[in-house]
Amino acid sequence: MLTVIPDLLDAETLARVRSLIDAADWVDGNVTSGHQSALAKRNLQLPEDAPQAQQAGQIVLDALGSSPLFIAAALPLKVFPPLFNSYAGGQAFGTHVDNAVRIQAGTGFRVRSDLSITIFLEEPESYDGGELTVETNFGVQRVKLPAGHAVLYPSSSLHRVEPVTRGRRVASFFWLQSMVRDDAARQMLFDLDSSIQQLAVDLGHDNAQVIRLTGVYHNLLRRWAEA
Ligand code: NI
Repeated sequence: MLTVIPDLLDAETLARVRSLIDAADWVDGNVTSGHQSALAKRNLQLPEDAPQAQQAGQIVLDALGSSPLFIAAALPLKVFPPLFNSYAGGQAFGTHVDNAVRIQAGTGFRVRSDLSITIFLEEPESYDGGELTVETNFGVQRVKLPAGHAVLYPSSSLHRVEPVTRGRRVASFFWLQSMVRDDAARQMLFDLDSSIQQLAVDLGHDNAQVIRLTGVYHNLLRRWAEA
C-alpha cells in the first residue's frame, strides 16, 4: 500500500530545505547502501554528517511531526534521520529491497525499516524519468510527485528509481519503524481512523457510535502497538 502525503513541505519550507542542501557537497550515493543494493545504485547523496543535511533533516522531521496524515498512516515509533539524494545524467537505482535494520553512524541508533519515505524536492516538469517504481500486491505503481509531496511505501517491497534522462531529480529519503509492524494491520487501522474522522464531521464528535468506534480503534492499537 502506498500513501501519498500532499504538501508535506509547503513552498517556504521546501525553499529552506533546498537552499541548505544545494549549498552542500554531494558524494557518491553508495555510502548508505548494503552490498547488494550498491551494485544497483548510481546517484549522489549528502553525507549523513554534513551540517546542511542535519539541518534540512530536522526541518523535514518537524514537518512530519505536524502532519496528521503522516502520523495516522505511519504510526511512527522511530524515524531514521532524513537523507538526501539526487539523480541526473542517466543515473538510476535498480530494483532492490531496503535493508531491514538501519544503524545511524556514530550514535548506534537502530531503526527496523517498516516504511520507506521519499519526499520529492524538485518539480516533475523539470526532469524526465526518475519515477519511483514500487511492486505492490496490486501491481506495479510508478510515483512522480510535485515538489513537497511525499510517498510512504512498505520497505519490504521491491522498488527502483527509473533513470533520469533530463534535468535533476532531488529527493529526501529515509525509513521508519512503525508502532504497528504488520502492513495489513497498519492499513486497517488507517482505514478505520479515516472513517471515524469523517463520521465525526458528519455526526459530531459526541455521537455515541463515533465514541464507540474510537474505542475500537484505540483498543486495536493497544493490542498491536509496540510503544
Ligand atoms: Ni530503496
